[in-house]
Amino acid sequence: MNYRHAFHAGNFADVLKHAALIGLFDALQAKPAALCYVDTHAARGMYDLRGEEALKTQEHVDGVQRLLRAPALPIALQRYVDLVRAFQPPGGNDIACYPGSPLIAQRLLREQDRAILCELHEEEAAALRRSLGGDARCAVHQRDGYAAMKALLPPPQKRGLVLIDPPFEAQGAEFTQIQQALADAWTRWPNATYAVWYPIKLRETILPFHRWLHRSAGKADVLVAELLLHPDNSGLRLNGCGLAIVNPPWHFDRTLQEWLPALKTLLAEGRNGEARVNWLKTA
Ligand SMILES: C[S@@+](CC[C@H](N)C(=O)[O-])C[C@H]1O[C@@H](n2cnc3c(N)ncnc32)[C@H](O)[C@@H]1O
Repeated sequence: MNYRHAFHAGNFADVLKHAALIGLFDALQAKPAALCYVDTHAARGMYDLRGEEALKTQEHVDGVQRLLRAPALPIALQRYVDLVRAFQPPGGNDIACYPGSPLIAQRLLREQDRAILCELHEEEAAALRRSLGGDARCAVHQRDGYAAMKALLPPPQKRGLVLIDPPFEAQGAEFTQIQQALADAWTRWPNATYAVWYPIKLRETILPFHRWLHRSAGKADVLVAELLLHPDNSGLRLNGCGLAIVNPPWHFDRTLQEWLPALKTLLAEGRNGEARVNWLKTA
């Protein structure tokens, strides 16, 4: 429990995850029926980019800040930038704060939608409650996100999205927990879309998870989107990250293809980066 997202807010991994999250909401909200958003690892929700943690790492400089300077962006990335800008105090062109996944989701919820936001760390959960400002559509649970999936799914709303975004302090152990939680969740809530974020260091550490998804997702389709800033052959650094999306919305692969290559060009800038969108399985 050493991980604090404030050191990483707005970095390249957040850009991929949050731009995809907005795209998933847009697709799922094409229908008026209520949806439930479940964030198993929500963190504190709002980050001060001029605070001590962000100043120490400056990760947002090579993440969200690069998009602000881009002369033209694909529509989906412009929508992400506009949403981040909507959180800024009036009067500046700069971005001083960065919204995490629960705050982005809160912005996108309609009156009929609900959010279940889980965060194990006491201070982070308390900060999240404050950031949400008593919004009755959002329930914060200070508890283990995997146990919450078991206890709280399925929600009353038939449609929904589960974001699983753990800190990966122990990579192998985290994948084991994700697999156990998913295997249980999709028997009880098969209609939901599940998006799992994962870090990429060595490719060989990701393959068992992909193989497991391929074998275990039943009739569900699994789409994988990856953004690599470096070749995935070094275990010493974060070379990239991915999102595995179970039951993605119709044509979500095409949606990702419209902006992921442009994001790679912006963020990998001169390095040997790669953008990948692949189906693990087509039912
Ligand atoms: C990568 S951050 C989440 C970032 C957030 N989803 C976002 O995109 O803004 C991971 C968070 O999970 C929390 N955490 C760690 N283990 C947890 C668990 N078992 N259940 C719920 N939260 C956990 C950490 O305290 C941390 O705040």
